[in-house]
Amino acid sequence: MSKELKTVLFGIGGYAANYLEAFKKPLRENVRLVGAVDPFAQTCALCPLYADAETMLRELAPDIAVISTPIQLHTRQAELAFAHGCHVVLEKPIAATVDSARAILAARDRAGKLLNIDYHWCYSPAMRAMKADAEAGRFGAPRALRALVLWPRGHAYYHRGTGWAGKKQDCEGQPIYDSVLNNATAHYLMNILFILGAPAENIRCATFRANPIETYDTAVLTAKAAGADIFLAVSHAIHETEKQEPLFEYRYEKAAVRFGVPGGKGGRLRAYFDSGEVKDYGEVDPPYMENLWNMVDAIRGEDGILCSGETALLQTRAVEDMRVLQPEAQPFPETWVRREETMTWVPGLAKALWACYEGRTLPNWDMRTNNL
Ligand SMILES: NC(=O)c1ccc[n+]([C@@H]2O[C@H](COP(=O)([O-])OP(=O)(O)OC[C@H]3O[C@@H](n4cnc5c(N)ncnc54)[C@H](O)[C@@H]3O)[C@@H](O)[C@H]2O)c1
Repeated sequence: MSKELKTVLFGIGGYAANYLEAFKKPLRENVRLVGAVDPFAQTCALCPLYADAETMLRELAPDIAVISTPIQLHTRQAELAFAHGCHVVLEKPIAATVDSARAILAARDRAGKLLNIDYHWCYSPAMRAMKADAEAGRFGAPRALRALVLWPRGHAYYHRGTGWAGKKQDCEGQPIYDSVLNNATAHYLMNILFILGAPAENIRCATFRANPIETYDTAVLTAKAAGADIFLAVSHAIHETEKQEPLFEYRYEKAAVRFGVPGGKGGRLRAYFDSGEVKDYGEVDPPYMENLWNMVDAIRGEDGILCSGETALLQTRAVEDMRVLQPEAQPFPETWVRREETMTWVPGLAKALWACYEGRTLPNWDMRTNNL
C-alpha cells in the first residue's frame, strides 16, 4: 500500500471549501487532511484548525500543502510550505507578479519538491487529448484562437473575504492585481496559452471598469502566440440575462476546435476538420478537484505534473504585460453604467463584446455618447 500523504490546507473559506469537500471522499487512497490554517475562521469540521501557518507546518510536518488563499498571500505561503518540505498545490493565478511567481519556482527548486497550479482545464482529459492532437500536427498550424466569457458578478463578489477583490495592493503594499482576467476568467487566457504552449506576444488590450474597483471588470485582448492570432473578451459587468458561459473557437490550418454554446452552457469539445471529419473529445470539465489528485499521483510517480508553475507563468506574464500597456483601466462613462442594489452592469456591453469576438477586434467605442 502507498505511503500515507498528510495534507494541510491554507484557507478554508471561499473556494477552499471545495478542498474540504474533496477530503470528505478522497479519490485516492491514503491521503488525509491533517490540519488547516485560516486566521479568520473559528472552526473546521474536518481537522484541527490553526491560526498560524508556521506552527501548523512545524507540528504536523505534512507532505502536501494546498494553498487556496487570496492572491497576495500565494508567494509567502508557498515559500514557507516549500521551506518546510511540502509539495504545493496552489490555486490560480500562481502569483500577483512575474517576479513573485519566479520566487515560488525558485523555492520549489531549492526544496526539490513538486508544485502544481489549479487551472482546471489543464487537468481535463478531453482538453489534453485535443492538445496532443494539436501538437502532433493533426490540425496543421494554429491560425487564430478566440474566446469569450461574460460572467456577471455582483457587489457581494467584490466585498467577499478580506476585501481584496479588484485591488492592486494590500495594506502592506503586497501586490494583488485581482481582476476579471487574473481571477475568474484567468482559465480561458491560460487555456489558449496552454494549448499553444507559448507566451503571448505583441499584446494589445483595452481594460475597463464599471464597478468601483482599482483594476478592471472588463477586458479585451489581442496578441500573437506560436505564430497564431489570439483574441479574448471577458467581463463581469454584464446582466444575468446576457451571461455567456465560456465559449471558444481555435482555428487551425486544417480544422476548427470549438467549445461552448452561444447563450448556453457546457457542450462538448470537438474538432471540425475541413475534410468534413468531426472528432469528439467529450465533456471538458475534469473530475472534481483533479489538481489535488494529480499531485498525489505525481508524488507517487504515477503521473506527471499536469499544470506546472512554468505553464501558469504564461498567464501571469500576459496579464502583467497588459498592466504595463494600460496601468489604469478606463472607467465606463457614468451614463453607460446601471448601478442596482446588488449589481453594477453596462447595458449593451454584452452585445458590444460579442461584436468584438465576431470581428476579433479591440473595441473602439465612442465614450462621448450617452450609451453604448
Ligand atoms: N480554481 C478556481 O476556479 C478558483 C475559483 C475561485 C477562486 N480561486 C482562487 O482561490 C484563491 C482564493 O480565492 P477565494 O475567492 O476563495 O478568496 P476568499 O477571500 O473568498 O477566501 C479566502 C480564504 O482564505 C482565508 N485566509 C485569508 N488570509 C489567510 C491567511 N493569512 N492564512 C490562511 N487563510 C487565510 C480567508 O479567511 C478565506 O477563508 C484565489 O487564488 C483565487 O484566485 C480559484
